[in-house]
Amino acid sequence: MSTRAHWTNRIAFILAATGSAIGLGNIWKFPYIAGVNGGGAFVMIYLACILAIGVPIFIAELYIGQKGQANAITSFEITDKKGTPWQIAGWMGMLAAILILSFYSVVGGWILDFEYRSLLGEFMSQTDEQIQGTLGGLFADWKRQMFWHFIFMTLVIGIVIAGVKNGLERWNKILMPALFAILILLLVRVTMMDGFSQAIGFLFSFDASKLTKAGVLEAVGHSFFTLSLGMGTILTYGSYLSERERLPRVAVQVAFLDTLIALIAGVVIFTVVFSFNLEPGAGPGLIFSTLPSLFVKMTGGSILSIAFFLLVTFAALTSAVSILEVPVAFVCEKYGIGRKKTTLLIGGFIYLMGYLSIFSFNIMSDVKILGLNFFDLFDKISSNWLLPIGGMLISLFVGWRLGKSAVDSALSDYPPFARTTFLWSIRVLAPLGVVLLMGHTLGWW
Ligand code: PHE
Repeated sequence: MSTRAHWTNRIAFILAATGSAIGLGNIWKFPYIAGVNGGGAFVMIYLACILAIGVPIFIAELYIGQKGQANAITSFEITDKKGTPWQIAGWMGMLAAILILSFYSVVGGWILDFEYRSLLGEFMSQTDEQIQGTLGGLFADWKRQMFWHFIFMTLVIGIVIAGVKNGLERWNKILMPALFAILILLLVRVTMMDGFSQAIGFLFSFDASKLTKAGVLEAVGHSFFTLSLGMGTILTYGSYLSERERLPRVAVQVAFLDTLIALIAGVVIFTVVFSFNLEPGAGPGLIFSTLPSLFVKMTGGSILSIAFFLLVTFAALTSAVSILEVPVAFVCEKYGIGRKKTTLLIGGFIYLMGYLSIFSFNIMSDVKILGLNFFDLFDKISSNWLLPIGGMLISLFVGWRLGKSAVDSALSDYPPFARTTFLWSIRVLAPLGVVLLMGHTLGWW
């Protein structure tokens, strides 16, 4: 019998998986990369990827974890055999986790900074120009960024040390619906603004000419990033699942909620962008230069602003925790080091790596590797390459290596037709999708 911790019940698990998926990826990254990549066509590819690639791989990942009952590397060995080459997917995941958290926490720090400013009521007395300048000021101030990044990482480390049960389960239940509610409120408010129809047009009209090769890759990568796929997060969370669970149902629920939140955030932010004649392709600072201007114009705006940044902080924390859990679970189990020590060590290392992302906006802004600063480099390598390739390996592993019998047992509650569809989705559809889209970016066709 395994002595590992498990979720208290299936609801706790579903909330945790949703908490992992919904985070800065939905509220900060999706709007900003949709803006940089010209809107509609990018959004369509992203949605298609979620459905055809993301959902099947989500199920496959959960399956490996639940069967393996171990971390993202050992689970491959348990479900296959010791030393199996497929564990490479797990190793790539470890690397991706470290790279992603190092910049994710820096952005989490920006959110904390904006929460602090909201508490001080700073935005309320400012003009739109001043608000738009705030993030630029923060970018230049690396000490301030270090401070908030430190606070964010400390929170993440604290929660991971507390472990699966004592950590987030309780808060998840209240705060995730609250975030949803506040987004709906903002959505209702922006329908009254001039830029609303332009925002809808921008996000949902398909204009293939606006799409670049890099944009296609970004859409693929983001479908993995936003669902927390391809690096063993969902696998690790699945490994804390003891009860039998209808995996496809969970996958569809999480993907649906995650996409909904991203789209709502997108509509809200682009309405503000078009109403105030801002630049849709402004980059990573997009939400920070738009949302405070919206709050200023709303009744009760100062409270809303405080609540919003607080809830986004929470959403970011539940995701960050799920990222750190991947290497922590591995090192604890593999090397028998205590959870606390492991978390402090890995968390501390990631904290220091975050400095490279912070310096990308100031003292090291002209250090470029492959034409990218560290912040962009870590994001692009992990999200656009490591996650899709890791996900493809996971999909092929379950589809071909574990094969039909595994799929039949994972989906035993479903009719044969559903099982066959799923089997071929992970055998061919999802991996081929990744290869075709990546090959396109590499100029193979
Ligand atoms: N899905 C999270 C988000 O959208 C980020 C994340 C990526 C979490 C990869 C875990 C693994 O914010």
